[in-house]
Formats: sequence, C-alpha cells, structure tokens
Amino acid sequence: MEKKMKRIGVLTSGGDSPGMNAAVRAVVRTAIACGMQCIGIRRGWQGLITSDFVPLDAASVGHILSRGGTILYTARSEDFMTEKGRLKAVSTCKMLGLDGIVAIGGDGTFRGALALSRLGIPVVGVPATIDNDIGCTNYTIGFDTACNTAIDCIDRLRDTMQSHERCSVVEVMGRNAGFLALYVGIAVGATAVLVPEREFDLERDVVERIRNARLAGATHFMIVVAEGVGSAVEIGKQIHEAIGIEPRVTVLGHIQRGGSPNARDRETATRMGYFAVKALDGGRTNCIIGTRGGDIVETPIEEALEMKKHLQMDRYEVLETVSVTTPAFTMPAR
Ligand code: F6P
Repeated sequence: MEKKMKRIGVLTSGGDSPGMNAAVRAVVRTAIACGMQCIGIRRGWQGLITSDFVPLDAASVGHILSRGGTILYTARSEDFMTEKGRLKAVSTCKMLGLDGIVAIGGDGTFRGALALSRLGIPVVGVPATIDNDIGCTNYTIGFDTACNTAIDCIDRLRDTMQSHERCSVVEVMGRNAGFLALYVGIAVGATAVLVPEREFDLERDVVERIRNARLAGATHFMIVVAEGVGSAVEIGKQIHEAIGIEPRVTVLGHIQRGGSPNARDRETATRMGYFAVKALDGGRTNCIIGTRGGDIVETPIEEALEMKKHLQMDRYEVLETVSVTTPAFTMPAR
C-alpha cells in the first residue's frame, strides 16, 4: 500500500488568472481536512529552486476567495527549464519533506509538472489560465472572469464609438488561441472577430462585413482581434487603407487578467483545488484535474499535454450569422 502523504506543497505558476487564490484556499483547507500539512511555494517553480516557501494553515487562506491575482506570486522560471534547476527543486522538496505538489497554472506549468514527476515527485495540476487553451479540460480557471472584463471594456468602447460613429479594433489576449476573442466577440455582437485558428481574408472577413453593416444602417463597428492573429494596430491600418475609415485601436492587455473572480471561477477553482488534493491523497498522482460536461476528470499529465483543444467553429458561424444584419436593399416606403 502507498504511504499516506503527510505534507504537500502548492504553487501558482505562469500568467496569473482570477480564481487562482480560490484554488489555493481549497487546496490548503482540503489538505488539512485530509490530515496533511500544506506549504505554499512562492513564485511558481522558481520558488522550489530558491526554497521560497510559506507554511499555510486554514486561517492564512481566509479572505482570499474573492481576490484576483495570487497570494503566492507567480513567475515563468527559466532556471526550471534546466536540469540543474530541476534537481535543485527536487532537493527542496526533499528538504521540506513534501510528498506531493499541487501546481496551478497553464501549459508551461504542466510541462514543469511532467519534468518534476519524472524525477520522482508526485504532482497534480490544476488548470488556471484566461486563455482556456488546455486540451484535457473544457474549462480553465479565470476564463469567464476575463471574458466579462473584456466585455465590460468593450461595452464602454461601444458607447464612444457609437457617439462618434467610429470603428473600433480591440485586441484581446489568448496567446495562440482564439477562445477569449470568439466568446467575447459573440457576447458584444462584434462586426468581425479574427482568431488564429481560422485564416482570415481582410476583404472577406472584415471589410465586407463592415460594408454590409453600413448598408444595413450601422454607423459604428466593433472588430475583435485575438492577439495570436497579430497586431490590432496593423489590422487598423489595413482597414483604413481598404475602406477609408480611421479605426481607433485598443489593446486590452493585462487588465483582462485582473479583478475579482466571478461565480463560475470561484466555484470551479474551489472544486478543482479540492479534487486535486483528493487525487494526491488517493494515490492518483501525475495527473491534471479538468472538467468534462459538469464533472471533474483526471488525465495523466503526459497524455494531457498531447491533447489539442479545438475552437468550436460552429460558434464562429453563430457570430457571423447573428452579429451583422444583411442589407435588405428594399426601397423605403414613401
Ligand atoms: O497565458 C496568459 C496570458 O495572459 C496570455 O493571454 C498572454 O499572451 C500572456 O499570458 C502574456 O504574458 P505576460 O504576462 O508574460 O506578458
């Protein structure tokens, strides 16, 4: 029989996302409920190399459920990419007596988790990234809050674009994925959305849609561009050259990563954190927690890293159909 785990570490790594704190809180309190101690590792994998830790008890994670960011800090560790760094991390685990680690983050975090697990340290991953680009789970912590933040910003932009009868080109985050852009685009009724998963033709996918919107009576236009497509500034210039209007460009940037997590992110983070500890406690290690349908699932890290997540193109069709009304070309009644 496997030896019962007595002490585990928890860390957040990579880009922060709203709900990471809720996940940390759930990990700590579930660990305590399972009779384990919990040590917070600060600054992600880097903290394991530099032995940057803080013991966490139930009270130390009080009042963080609603806070954005991560109380454990986060980093993208270059040192952890090296064998020397990883061996140092293993010796920190041994020194602290850590029987396992819960690693909260995205793709890069899980690559680190796989490397550490191969060196004999049991790891369970919890997916948290505003990009929602992790193949083994329908949902990643922070995505919904980030969508809502972007929607709020774009609604504000729309007020001024409508007043001045302008075109807005808004760049949203998402790294190489278009989930954020597409969901936000649908939710704000964007004139056009450009995502990296779908090759675009400026004339067909942007200019023609602006033209149709104009013919249907619109006097302002909202173009949402995923950062993975390229620079919104560049797209704005191309629109200007093609159709003569002068778009205003807004890059939403890191504002999308901040803010208090919403209901979905608090609830999902709490459940994922709980199930991550239950997995470790049950001896089911080296896996990533995810959701499929409404259920929590566990996928071996190696397999999870191979899984691709595809943007649902039917959503793109929904957007294209609903966002712009087709010009009727009927003469107004006299
Ligand atoms: O992965 C989350 C994310 O916010 C991406 O959407 C974005 O491309 C990247 O991180 C930005 O990273 P950084 O915070 O290092 O600028």
